[in-house]
Amino acid sequence: MTFTSLAFLQSSLEQNYQQLPLVTKPADLVHGEGNEQAEIMLIGEAPGYHESVQRRPFVGRSGQLLRQTIVKVGIEEKNVYISNIIKVRPPDNRDPLPEEILAFKPYLDGEINLISPKLIVTLGRFSMAKFLPEVKVSQVHGRLHKIKWQGQVVFILPMYHPAAALRSTKLKDSFIADFAKLPKVLEFIKTTAAGEEFKETVKEALY
Ligand code: URA
Repeated sequence: MTFTSLAFLQSSLEQNYQQLPLVTKPADLVHGEGNEQAEIMLIGEAPGYHESVQRRPFVGRSGQLLRQTIVKVGIEEKNVYISNIIKVRPPDNRDPLPEEILAFKPYLDGEINLISPKLIVTLGRFSMAKFLPEVKVSQVHGRLHKIKWQGQVVFILPMYHPAAALRSTKLKDSFIADFAKLPKVLEFIKTTAAGEEFKETVKEALY
């Protein structure tokens, strides 16, 4: 599916809600949020309770940690777009099912193509698995990856999910340390890495 704008993508989602799992009415949908020209796109898992009430991604406890951390490391809010793998809250906040991820895939892919971010930050294992299916977050968090995705070169920086960071001091320290690298990683992509030729084998850390 090709979308000409985020507004069109969001209205298509709402118009097609009956074809989407878990969605009983358009107001169940939580759209991505942020600047269409953002250089950094953050992708989480699925909205939780607060997100589904406010219809905004990452506004509950883990969202507060995420948004505070972004500000703390000096990333401007206008340089960030935040979205989720699925745009509806799963019952009891359970993990999204493969068929749910698949149903929302055209819309997430559409957001990625419209924004065309310089860097995609994945939050947790579900969004990471979209780009790096063979690894574990604990092995690769905070390490920049350059991959080929849908024929394009994209940069992926996997991170722990902020909800996991809230459950463990050790993970929270890693989460914040990984985010602290973001401005330099972005600069590295813009000045160095983007110009380098793509090597099919480059899946290891670049930075
Ligand atoms: N967790 C997510 O993955 N996404 C949200 O929007 C909120 C919590």
